[in-house]
Formats: sequence, structure tokens, C-alpha cells
Amino acid sequence: MIADNDGAPATLLEVGETFLGDADLSFDAYTSQAIYVAEVERVWGKTWQWACREEAIPEPGDWTVYDVAHYSVLIVRQMDRTVRAFVNSCPHRGMQFADSGSSGHGKQFIRCPFHGMQWHLDGSLREIPCRWDFPHIRDDSFGLTAVRVASWGGFVFINLDPEAPSLKAYLDVLPRHFAHAPLDRRRVSIHIAKVMPGNWKMCIEAFLEAFHVLATHPEGARYTADAAADYDVLGPHVSRFMHSLGIPSSHLKRHIAEPDVVADVVADMGFDPAGLKPGQSARAYIADAMRAAFGAQFGIDYSNTSTAEILDSVQYFVFPNAFFFPGVLLRMVYRFRPIDPDHCLFEILVLDPLPDGVPVPPPAPVVALAANETYEGVPGFRFGQVFDQDTENFRRQTAGIKASAKGRQTLGNCQEVRVRHLRQTLAIYLNQLS
Ligand code: FES
Ligand SMILES: [Fe+2]
Repeated sequence: MIADNDGAPATLLEVGETFLGDADLSFDAYTSQAIYVAEVERVWGKTWQWACREEAIPEPGDWTVYDVAHYSVLIVRQMDRTVRAFVNSCPHRGMQFADSGSSGHGKQFIRCPFHGMQWHLDGSLREIPCRWDFPHIRDDSFGLTAVRVASWGGFVFINLDPEAPSLKAYLDVLPRHFAHAPLDRRRVSIHIAKVMPGNWKMCIEAFLEAFHVLATHPEGARYTADAAADYDVLGPHVSRFMHSLGIPSSHLKRHIAEPDVVADVVADMGFDPAGLKPGQSARAYIADAMRAAFGAQFGIDYSNTSTAEILDSVQYFVFPNAFFFPGVLLRMVYRFRPIDPDHCLFEILVLDPLPDGVPVPPPAPVVALAANETYEGVPGFRFGQVFDQDTENFRRQTAGIKASAKGRQTLGNCQEVRVRHLRQTLAIYLNQLS
């Protein structure tokens, strides 16, 4: 990135290794039911998690339900276009107002489907059928239970803990680091959801390092500088890696010619590797090709966009469960949610940049993949093979962890520092008095 010398944002040039210790970490964190139960209360009940995109609920009365573990939150666009969130459980006898994972448009008020009690969109009581039978309740103390809500980058976040720090404090450096890549100016063009055969942390951790590229994604080693990736711990909840493309892995014994690097990266985009000029690096050529291709695709002028922004895998993790990419080629968001100690729901969203002034269109519908369906089959998704390879690892790693006699993992100090960081942040939450 520094060697590109073509105007990468200062935040991408801020790099620094962090040493967080080298002790083995127990596999109990992935297998213990007791730890899973503690996480539900102390992590999922106390952290900021993005629940939906703003454009999923654009108009007053639009709503969606976000669920994690046993928690369920109803998120509602208000008449004044702000967003409020409520526990998705009726104060009368506990009925869910709407099914887990559902969404809809144009609610005038919130009506419980069981006995028909009603609340205004702001959560205040509107009507109780047979009001005479409830002389013991006061209207002003029978509102819906509010859940904290805040927005960043076009994402609506919720936090079930009234005592938690603000979203702004929680995200720390993140808004500053995304100033050059505003995610609120993007549209969800692909949204894939699939249940992963592994503990939520184990699956997340596979995306926190590029160390596994050589063995798991060997074709990628021909054009990614995996061993040269930067790993940065940027705050209690935020870490990052930056992984340059267009440069072969230093692990490879055989020299990969520059035209071959070009061919590996852009052949499927219709570019001719023969266009590489004498003395031009594959990385520079690919970046130029991407500037032209994405410029045409998105209607955005990328002529002054740095190589790192257009090409590299720059990826921020926000504890406990979200990844955000500021890049253009790699422009995903991931979200993980626990199902049980051995399974989690993994969602991949592709966020396409929008030209100035264009309203954000509704998000693409979710493509729900069954366990036996591959990412390669998802129309328009470029990286299916990679995620299929990762999924296969999860099945085996879960089995291997259970078979382990050692009972602990041993991490690399640099390349796996974000795994240790996640576990250290987790320990802080789990050790809090509830
Ligand atoms: S449970 Fe909601 S109105 Fe009765
Ligand atoms: Fe991977």
C-alpha cells in the first residue's frame, strides 16, 4: 500500500503490530454449554449488533424483526422517520408481535395477534380490548419495552443493555476509518444466509486471519500477499486486516509471472492479460482494470481512487459478530449469530457503491442456502468457491476440536492476533458481573 504511493487514505497506512500474549487457548469456549449460556446473557444481551439496513425500513410504519439467541427485537420506522426498537414480546401474555426474522411495511400501529391489544408506533399504549377487565394497569406503565437503537453507515444497530456505552463510543475508530468509504452510500446487491457447522467464534475466527489462504485457498496464493497481511488491533471491539491482491504469496517456491497474476485475478472479468505494459506491475494493471470496470458498473469515477481501496481485502471486525469492508472489489459485510454451541448463522452481504444523489434502493432479498447448497451456485456472487472451502473447514474443525486430546489451540503471535483479541474481549464480557 505504501509502495503503491497513489494516495491511499491515511487510516489505511496506520499499521501496527500488537502482541497480546502467546498462551494456548482452551477449546472449551467452542464446546461448553455453560459458556454458551453465559455468552447469551453477557455478550448477546449486552453488545451492539447491526440489526438491519436503514433502507430495509424506509417509510413510517415499516418494520423488521432481529433475533439473536432467544432475544427478539421489533424495529419500527417512526412517523418522524427516526427508528425505535422494542422487545418483540407482548406485555400481556408474551406473544410475539411478529415472527422471528419477518419484516413488513406500513404498520399504522402495533397490534398483538393474540388478544388484539394495540400500541402506537412509539411503543405507547393505544388500546386494550375489554379495558374494564384491567383496572389494575395504568396506560402510561403498559408501554412496550424499548431497546436501544442507533445507526452508523446505513446500518441500524440495537443493544439490549440499557447500561451499555453509546454506539459511537463502542465503534471507536470505525467511523473515522470509513470516512473515505461511506457504507450508507451503498446498496445491498446480494444477501446470502447459511447455517454453518461450527461454533460462532470458531467460524468468525476463520475470517480473522489470512494464514489459512495457502492451505485452504491455494489458488488464491497465486495473487494474494497472504503472509504480508497487516493485522491491527484498533480498540476493545475493533480489529482489522489488510491483505494485498495482485502480489503472489511469498510462500510459493515457483515464480509466478506478472501476466499470470493478472490472468488469475481478472480473466473472469473479461480483461486481457496481454494488455500488461512492459515494466507495469500486475497489481497496477489490475487496479486500472478494476477502476474502469467498477467505474462503468457503478457509475462512479474511480480514476483518483488508490489501488488499496479498489483492490485489496481490507476488513474490519466489530465484536461480537460483524465484519465491514471499505473496499470496492471486496465490498462485503458479514454477520454471525449463534444457534447453539455447534452451529451459527452466517450472512454475507455484498454492498455496491452508489453514485452521489441516487437514492438507496431496497436491499436484495435473502438467498437462504441449505446445508447441502454451495455458495458457487449463488448468481452473481464471485467468491463462492472460497466460502465453500471455508465451510468445509468448519465441519472438520468442529469434529477435530471435539476429538482433541490436547484441548487447547496454539496461536501464531502476529497472524492470529485477532483471534486472541476476540477471545480477550469475550473474556472481559464473560467476567462482568451480571
Ligand atoms: S398476548 Fe398480546 S394481547 Fe394478549
Ligand atoms: Fe477462508
